[in-house]
Amino acid sequence: MSRTHTLTTLFLVSIFSLVPISNSYSKEDTRQYVEMPEVMQQHQLANMRDHLMAIDEILLNMGNGELDKAADIAEERLGMSSLSKHGASHMAMFIPKEMGAIGISMHKAASRFALKAQEGDPLPAYKALQEVTSSCTACHAAYKTFPPKLSVTPEKNITDKRINLGFTPTEKAAFLSEMQQMLISIQGIMSGIGNNDPEEIIKAARYSGNRMARETPASIKKKTPPSFKEIGGPTHMMFEEVVIRAETDDMEDIAELTARLMQQCVSCHATFKVSE
Ligand code: HEC
Ligand code: HEC
Repeated sequence: MSRTHTLTTLFLVSIFSLVPISNSYSKEDTRQYVEMPEVMQQHQLANMRDHLMAIDEILLNMGNGELDKAADIAEERLGMSSLSKHGASHMAMFIPKEMGAIGISMHKAASRFALKAQEGDPLPAYKALQEVTSSCTACHAAYKTFPPKLSVTPEKNITDKRINLGFTPTEKAAFLSEMQQMLISIQGIMSGIGNNDPEEIIKAARYSGNRMARETPASIKKKTPPSFKEIGGPTHMMFEEVVIRAETDDMEDIAELTARLMQQCVSCHATFKVSE
């Protein structure tokens, strides 16, 4: 498909998708709050951002046919070998047993992926990668570590230079629910790639496309600065691009596009935050 054609289609998609679509994910935050000392929480969230970055780098390498490199990244940053680096034993004191079990299953899945990727066949490797991300989304659906109340003490953390968006607790819950949906979309796209199933990819990507952009509460839109929208807007558009290209492109190209899409996630996470 030519570039202009793609852009025209994207434009049409954004015009014709103004029909209301019901919201399939809940904005009610029913997750269990897991309290931990602030340093631990900061450490955990930094780990999390690296997890997302690792998935992105894995996809990039898979797209380039560098399965060995993808395997190394998975084992070292997400797999069983990463456990001591992540300070898992300190963390274990603070988290519920079931939450720890999901964490372990993620590390195991990453190690299994590393072995599959090393075998050199991309499709089974994508399938194995999808098992990693399904642990991410399972844990995010069940637990949270952000304190329920926002404490606004801007000067407290001088090493963290990210801009605080200053959301109210309700806005924060709605926003984080969108974020979880984004990761679920990524997971669905990867599952679709592994199953060579364009329909699965399309369905997963749609949730985080223009539909999500339109459903974002107005008060959140008002609070986010232009520099935020410059990353956020194109991210939704890239999900729409995945929807369109899933029909025609081969799975390797979709993986490459997804990896580029995930660089948006990474760059926004490096710049903004919703709590101290
Ligand atoms: C065992 C539980 C668990 C697993 C597994 C897990 N996460 Fe998380 N993650 C959390 C919790 C808890 C938070 C904080 C969410 C909150 O309080 O709203 C979080 C937050 C995040 C954040 C936001 C970081 C920030 O700066 O606020 C990202 C990004 C993230 N996770 C990505 C991932 C990815 C990618 C994976 C899988 C490779 C993953 N997570 C696996 C529990 C988990
Ligand atoms: C325009 C900005 C922006 C983009 C783009 C973005 N995020 Fe986020 N995301 C955030 C912010 C801000 C937070 C809260 C981080 C914090 O306070 O530490 C967050 C948090 C998260 C969380 C934690 C959710 C929870 O329950 O706490 C996940 C998971 C996540 N993002 C996944 C993604 C994925 C996957 C993508 C890309 C497909 C993405 N994000 C793109 C801004 C963004």
